[in-house]
Amino acid sequence: MIDFKKEIARIVSEKVESLNQEDVEALIEIPPNYDMGDYAMPCFKLAKTFRKAPNLIAQEIAESLDGKEYFEKIENVGPYVNFFIDRKVLARTVLEEIFSKKENYGSSNMGNGKNIVIDFSSPNIAKPFHVGHLRSTVIGNSLYKIYEFLGYNCIGINHLGDWGTQFGKLITAYKKWGNKEEIEKEPIKTLLKLYVKFHDEAELNPELEEEGRRWFKKLEDGDEEARKLWNWFVDLSLKEFNKIYDLLKVKFDYFTGESFYNDKMDRIIELLKEKNLLKESKGAYVVDLEEFNMPPCLVLKSDGATLYPTRDITAAIYRKETFNFEKALYVTDYSQSLHFAQWFKVIELMGFEWADKLEHVPFGRVSTEEGRMQTRKGNVILLEELLNKAIDKVREIIEEKNPNLENKDEVARQVGIGAVIFNDLSNNKIKDIVFNWDRMLSFDGETGPYVQYTHARANSVLNKRKYDITNDVDYSILTNQEAVDVIRLLQLFPEAIVNAMEKNEPSIITRHIVDIAQAFNKFYHECPIIVEDENIQKARLLLVFAVKTVLKTGLGLLGIDAPDKM
Ligand code: ARG
Repeated sequence: MIDFKKEIARIVSEKVESLNQEDVEALIEIPPNYDMGDYAMPCFKLAKTFRKAPNLIAQEIAESLDGKEYFEKIENVGPYVNFFIDRKVLARTVLEEIFSKKENYGSSNMGNGKNIVIDFSSPNIAKPFHVGHLRSTVIGNSLYKIYEFLGYNCIGINHLGDWGTQFGKLITAYKKWGNKEEIEKEPIKTLLKLYVKFHDEAELNPELEEEGRRWFKKLEDGDEEARKLWNWFVDLSLKEFNKIYDLLKVKFDYFTGESFYNDKMDRIIELLKEKNLLKESKGAYVVDLEEFNMPPCLVLKSDGATLYPTRDITAAIYRKETFNFEKALYVTDYSQSLHFAQWFKVIELMGFEWADKLEHVPFGRVSTEEGRMQTRKGNVILLEELLNKAIDKVREIIEEKNPNLENKDEVARQVGIGAVIFNDLSNNKIKDIVFNWDRMLSFDGETGPYVQYTHARANSVLNKRKYDITNDVDYSILTNQEAVDVIRLLQLFPEAIVNAMEKNEPSIITRHIVDIAQAFNKFYHECPIIVEDENIQKARLLLVFAVKTVLKTGLGLLGIDAPDKM
């Protein structure tokens, strides 16, 4: 594909001796609308070197470039040189590229096979999988796909919350009030109830806390009964979590939770001691971070028990040694930002020069119409119910609009789940979001169903075609504004993916494919595709094919399926 940015850099640097290609490339911008060209080069920064007003520089450059290949016109407006790509060249370049690469259009090997560790989802055993975990799952899964598409090797880790004093409490509660059958029937709800009861009772009877601690100690020491119960809690919880992962079609390379690092922590504590980083504070051990304006990082409790940060520090070192990652991402909501900043600093203080490869990817909170979910009180909406509700609502819509659709159940899943994921990835991830069923499931508006529907529509047009899809078409047929608007967005798709990767921001792709879908629907209404004229039909079919292909790729990068019919 002609890289028009590079082409501009080449022709400008050819004419202007004192500018090299990289300098020019760095100056080039994409203007907010087409009246200002497809690309623009502002000349403010050149005023010093040229000892001339930017307007004058722009004027001279524009004049010297008159009549260049690939460009319809190159003109100057004020301090800018604006470049307008020849519409026919644009159409041919972009559509030939998509036609030959198909679903790989936009992929690259810029990652060179380097390892990216993505720590995401990571729910807690015996606790509900809440909407925050859903966001982490959805964002992490999308990042996984984006990095892979760009040639990185991803390692997805589910850092389950499967260790800590709460398991001592849960064992205590189970032994006192638990009922095996009830738990097997509704594991998470029942275990949560036990946990809540423990806290209520412990307020009246502090002795319980002591008992909880004793059970956790036993668990840490490998006591058989404690281990057996803990294993049972883990198995039951994973069964529940897996139902959600199955609905979402999300996979992990490792389910190595916090407990995985139990036998790896001594070495790290020793290392911290050797480096003189541990400080005693009220019987506990901390790493002092006052110098960096942060509260101390708690590493060991007074009874010798390790904590959440201890396990994260240990896990990071293990992951570096095992995967030699280029980057390690941690996807959680922003309430954990301090936690990550603290222990990232500890890694740095330990002298690991790779500390700057650790990256927290924070996102905003989620609320539902039912209000923010609270795990402590026990009145939780389980996430599986929420996902199934989305699927049911879509099934109702299908029954109404397209009752004869084959494969209704699977399409309802794809669209219902797609709607939830899309909603989650629609805005900048740091923004708080609200679940609004009607908005999320609507077939028009900036939603998953809208983009999926546009994809299915493109597919159905292709099925009505009378000629083969080929790239041997008359590209001048694709130079009207509606076509150009679509083609231009298709051209910028690969850049959007790289952008999304660099910012760890899948919403860049979400927005881009919404734009493509909107532009395509305009084209579709203005330009009939299945027409008598062979040349027109063939040219337009190629565009439809390109849109279908790119929408599918884009949805795929978000972790959303694209059904051919809906
Ligand atoms: N289990 C934690 C929670 O539910 C999230 C863990 C995130 N990953 C990590 N390495 N700390 O809040």
